[in-house]
Amino acid sequence: MKLFKDIQGMRRYTKEARARGAIVAFVPTMGHLHAGHGELMAAASAAGDITVLSIFVNPMQFGPHEDFNTYPRTLEQDLKTAEAAGVDAVYVPDIAQIYPRGYQTFVTVEELTKTLCGEARPGHFRGVTTVVLKLFNIVAPHKAVFGIKDFQQYIVVRRMVQDLNLDIEIIGVETVREKDGLAMSSRNSYLDRDERKAARCIPRAFDEVNAAFFGEIRESATLINIAKKIIENEPLAVVEYIAVCDNETLAEVEHIEGAARLMLAVRIGRTRLIDNCLLEKKDWVARLDNI
Ligand code: PAF
Repeated sequence: MKLFKDIQGMRRYTKEARARGAIVAFVPTMGHLHAGHGELMAAASAAGDITVLSIFVNPMQFGPHEDFNTYPRTLEQDLKTAEAAGVDAVYVPDIAQIYPRGYQTFVTVEELTKTLCGEARPGHFRGVTTVVLKLFNIVAPHKAVFGIKDFQQYIVVRRMVQDLNLDIEIIGVETVREKDGLAMSSRNSYLDRDERKAARCIPRAFDEVNAAFFGEIRESATLINIAKKIIENEPLAVVEYIAVCDNETLAEVEHIEGAARLMLAVRIGRTRLIDNCLLEKKDWVARLDNI
């Protein structure tokens, strides 16, 4: 596995790969790799001939009082994990390379970033899209893989790619969950034992919401209240937002007809967790209905 710390080396590597006709698949990360990233790397290697992974804790996507300084940095272990997953090259730039002195250019996806995490974390998505575009320009992939645990990020990146005519296919990968249903996230490592237990309220809420949805409840307000009640019953949990959104446009939905997604952000102690679940009448249910 190759390790690049400089833009030129990274560029040369994928330029040569592309010249040979290889399909370059890219997994951008902030490191502290877990099984969720494992699925992203597996999806990339299935989609391309060469897998490139980047590890960069991007200061531009953290607010002034957020966890940039404490974000887990586990480079040595991450490199072993990436190599074991069959990654061909890892790009690990430093901050000065990505944001040199005098840096002043940003990318903003206007509307999609006004709600949900965009509302709760001003400037967050501007930081994400800026760094993702820069990484795309450096790595020059044919395809890039994003986890849909960060569903708004996935939709925002897709929009940016479409709006800026980037010739890159964006692949969304299902969330990987712990045995008790908690979505895997680098930030789970902040949780102490009691908080980790408390965090189970999120998958519990999804189970109840799903049961209600398949019990023919289609009013978003009712589904949101079901989730809220379960989460607010947990003393260590504070709901930041719960919303039901259209699965493509992220527009809030009052009554679910097509595919929608329950999206939430919850604080467990000082840790902010986000997660979502798809609310869509499955094909087989639709077919049964037609009999
Ligand atoms: O999802 C992440 O890990 C980050 O937001 C990303 C896409 C690597 C950009 O810094």
